[in-house]
Amino acid sequence: MSQYFSKITGWGMYVPENVLTNHDLEKMMDTNDEWIVSRTGIRERRIISEGETTVSMSVEASRRALEKAGLNAEDLDLIILASSTPDYLVPPASSIIQDQLGAQCAAMTLVAGCSGFVYGLNTAAQFIQTGAYEHVLIIGAETISAGIDWEDRGTAILFGDGAGAVIISRTTQPGGLLSMKMGSDGAGWDALIVPALGTKNYPSHENIENNEHKLKMKGRPVFKFATRVMSDVAVDVVTAAGLTMDDVDVLIPHQANQRIIDLALRRLNFPAEKTIVNLDRYGNTSAASVPLAMVEALEDGRIKDNDKVVMIAFGAGLTYAAAVWQFQPMEVSPEDEAILVTNWPVDNAFQRKLQEMRTAAFRMKVQARTKASEASMAIMLPLYSFRKGLKKRGKNGKNDDPEALEDKQSD
Ligand code: COA
Repeated sequence: MSQYFSKITGWGMYVPENVLTNHDLEKMMDTNDEWIVSRTGIRERRIISEGETTVSMSVEASRRALEKAGLNAEDLDLIILASSTPDYLVPPASSIIQDQLGAQCAAMTLVAGCSGFVYGLNTAAQFIQTGAYEHVLIIGAETISAGIDWEDRGTAILFGDGAGAVIISRTTQPGGLLSMKMGSDGAGWDALIVPALGTKNYPSHENIENNEHKLKMKGRPVFKFATRVMSDVAVDVVTAAGLTMDDVDVLIPHQANQRIIDLALRRLNFPAEKTIVNLDRYGNTSAASVPLAMVEALEDGRIKDNDKVVMIAFGAGLTYAAAVWQFQPMEVSPEDEAILVTNWPVDNAFQRKLQEMRTAAFRMKVQARTKASEASMAIMLPLYSFRKGLKKRGKNGKNDDPEALEDKQSD
């Protein structure tokens, strides 16, 4: 059997045009650019305008990813949307995205806070590597601005909106996901919370008056958790791939806070030049943060063929997720092609064909058996009921059918 690898074949992003700078925030609340930049590194963020939603941004980013991959929406086998700010609690926004893209595939929404995209990517890679699926679209998209309490300067300065999308495809080209780590420190579940948007606490008049339907955060504990996770998980995931940080070409950290990133880089002794940072322009876009950074790095050539890239994210839950990903070349040279062909023996292709025929025959057999049993039921059931009725009436003419007796008693 061939070994399958996952390969990033398409990517796209969408951020709203509307820019909200630190200076704009100065006019809205008691804060200032100097404080925000020195404590977070953020200078501006994008905020949705009328008509823009998590779904609309996801669809735009996904269309760009499909175009890059040279695929149609019908080619997708699965869509995973990572988001904590979907258009609705029900239905899953992933199904609306599927509909708007015109895809005919499985779709699910994954909620793992800011770690959601990396959780989604790691999940998608499993479907690809087992051979179950050929193309999976993973989106990280958020409209955090809708859930921000614009009177809470502790959170309002941090977040932004946007969407990043990636397509991973099945290949025999070695690379893709080399190692991963995912986890959750549930003891910190209330460190980042929207208290009144779930079934425990629906948004009542009272809750809304108290802004309980908006995001609350305990900044200090989250900061502490994030710095610990960033370095610990980076070491775990890199060693699991049989590498050291020296072998890593690019680091894509979750874009939460420049100070968290700097601390992790120091602990890991990893150069800032190899680290992708765009939080100064977008702020913390939660599940969209890693894909937005990845897409920009791919677009401007900072991620090159065969680069080993580490992604690390953390967020509400408190969750964390990391991956080491080797980017296979998009273009396969004739020499590579020859190697791939030898790696994929003819008998394997034959086996796969045989397997397909076997499963098709099995499906047809099951369908035929189902139809036959349905037909025999349609003929036999009236006969059987008639015979049973005769038997139950008995020789002395008494009807001892419990249902008939019940009918009699109720008369
Ligand atoms: N503008 C100006 N002053 C502010 C302010 C703002 N936006 N927010 C807080 N302050 C003030 C506080 O009132 C406090 O003043 P005081 O000393 O007079 O009481 C002072 O600044 C320090 O506040 P503190 O909350 O202790 O700041 P901090 O250094 O912990 O930084 C965060 C706050 C939110 C930037 C920081 O805790 C953080 O980044 N945490 C992680 C958050 C995160 O990444 N969340 C997303 C995870 S996915």
